Amino acid sequence: EDPRINGIKTRIRVVPDFPKKGIMFQDITTVLLDPKAFKDTIDLFVERYRNKNISVVAGIEARGFLFGPPIALAIGAKFVPLRKPKKLPGETIFEEYELEYGNDRLEMHVGAVEAGDRALVVDDLIATGGTLCAAIKLLERVGAEVVECACVIELPELQGRQRLKGKPLCMLVEYR
Ligand code: PRP
Ligand code: MG
Repeated sequence: EDPRINGIKTRIRVVPDFPKKGIMFQDITTVLLDPKAFKDTIDLFVERYRNKNISVVAGIEARGFLFGPPIALAIGAKFVPLRKPKKLPGETIFEEYELEYGNDRLEMHVGAVEAGDRALVVDDLIATGGTLCAAIKLLERVGAEVVECACVIELPELQGRQRLKGKPLCMLVEYR
């Protein structure tokens, strides 16, 4: 394992019973407080993706917006935000996904991603995988190839990986 990963791991704050009882919340804002840990996080992804011909980094609102843009800049790819409902002003397409209570949706601007684009999807964390699954569907609907999904943290017990339509997932830290 890369020695930088342990430094990142120690900066993730685990907050019990947030936002409700029984949830161990994985707080990455404490990684952002440490410039070395934040830079290491971005660098690890950049080293992995810089020579993979990625043309678009799609970041998922909100926490995927913290990690996606610096990766996109460093590898010379465009950045496309996948947003929660009614935030994007242009024409959009959407995919719905399930939450514990009710549904949510991700929206993407039409024309931001084109057929033939090679996409990397970035988020902070994969739990059930529903969010990343919706992102993959949006990108594939417009003809992009999803090369990989990248997350800082995976909760492997929830088996979110199995919902990724066979797409590879790269994560830095597992929380069990
Ligand atoms: C969290 C997290 C991931 C998603 C993972 O986002 O940032 O995006 O949940 O869950 P899943 O794998 O079960 O779909 P959340 O929707 O809480 O909102 P935020 O990023 O805007 O804080
Ligand atoms: Mg999120």
